[in-house]
Amino acid sequence: MMDQLADRARELDGADQLATWRDEFVITDPDLAYLDGNSLGMTPRRSLDRMREVMESEWAGGLIGSWEHWVDLPARVGDALAPLIGAEPGEVVVHDSVSVNLAQLVHAALAMRPDRRVIAIDPADFPSDRYIVDGIARTLGLEVRRDADPVLDDVAVMVRSHVDYRTAEVTDMAVGTARATAAGALVIWDLSHSAGVLEVDLGAAGAELAVGCTYKFLNGGPGSPGFSYVSTDLVGQVEQPIQGWFGHRDQFAMGPDFEPHADARRLLIGTPSVLALAATAVGVDLTAEAGIDLVAAKARALTAFALECCQDVGLDSPTPTDPFRRGGHVSVRHPDARELTRRLATEHRVVADFRTPDLIRLGCSPLTTRFVDVHRGVAALAGLTN
Ligand SMILES: Cc1ncc(COP(=O)(O)O)c(C=O)c1O
Repeated sequence: MMDQLADRARELDGADQLATWRDEFVITDPDLAYLDGNSLGMTPRRSLDRMREVMESEWAGGLIGSWEHWVDLPARVGDALAPLIGAEPGEVVVHDSVSVNLAQLVHAALAMRPDRRVIAIDPADFPSDRYIVDGIARTLGLEVRRDADPVLDDVAVMVRSHVDYRTAEVTDMAVGTARATAAGALVIWDLSHSAGVLEVDLGAAGAELAVGCTYKFLNGGPGSPGFSYVSTDLVGQVEQPIQGWFGHRDQFAMGPDFEPHADARRLLIGTPSVLALAATAVGVDLTAEAGIDLVAAKARALTAFALECCQDVGLDSPTPTDPFRRGGHVSVRHPDARELTRRLATEHRVVADFRTPDLIRLGCSPLTTRFVDVHRGVAALAGLTN
């Protein structure tokens, strides 16, 4: 059966409308099956050109004068990213790490619910998110409610990943937001595993606050900045804890007091990393050009195919079979997951990633992953486990 699935993989690649986008990326080893674009997206060729341009022309050539157009990069890249996640211009800024963005928004949300003393988070959510929540609660003397489906009546803010980093299960954002709103709580959605791979629609879901990352499916590069989203309706109430000068509405007036921007730019802090943002802009533009609807459709097709292959060889997966309930990766559960992930890379040139305690994640990044890569990955895994 795996032989027939190999033929199917070739057919699916032949019919893939996005197949040529792979040529936009640097492929140093054509034999490598890179199934890790959900952790670090591959390198766009245009990023290499853009890095050279920023270094040579803008930095070496333009020197301080280049700040004229660098200064608003966090907002410009945010506006480019906005349509990919169902946000409006002015609702997204790209800066700092996801962790910093999340800490800012948790503080801002707590300030909007001063009579409530509970922060809710799923105990299985991403570690950095949990640590940040714990740290803020400790500092402010608040309670953390660790529950996948918490009572929200006394909760100020709930932090929730849109796509589970282990199983790839999607939480319904509209339902979650409506439930929290009815209970008087705010939700901060973490879109790290959904931005650039799913058709996220923050506006339609009524979402008010979100963060996410750009180095996974958006191919922004190692350490590319995270982002924050604040809905236009809420932004006027957002008081952020780190009042840096980039959040000031008239930054160069050097005035005595902090007066925040009217939109999401009020979340900006200090001097942005221009090189990182320039690369992020390339990654975001590539996905926008390819079309997020086609990208999301291919993610569903790749992950469906991965699950079919897994089922065929008897590998156990906790990833949902409903295509609209799963993100852009498929996980395989195995007690020897760590060792198998290592052997996939060293013996089969298949790069996947291990998540403790027993998961091997196969990332399906639609602009770069081919169906034959998915087939190769699962076939190699089956060979190692039999
Ligand atoms: C779901 C999720 N949240 C938060 C983070 C932390 O991101 P950062 O290292 O940019 O703070 C990650 C990183 O992979 C993540 O996957």
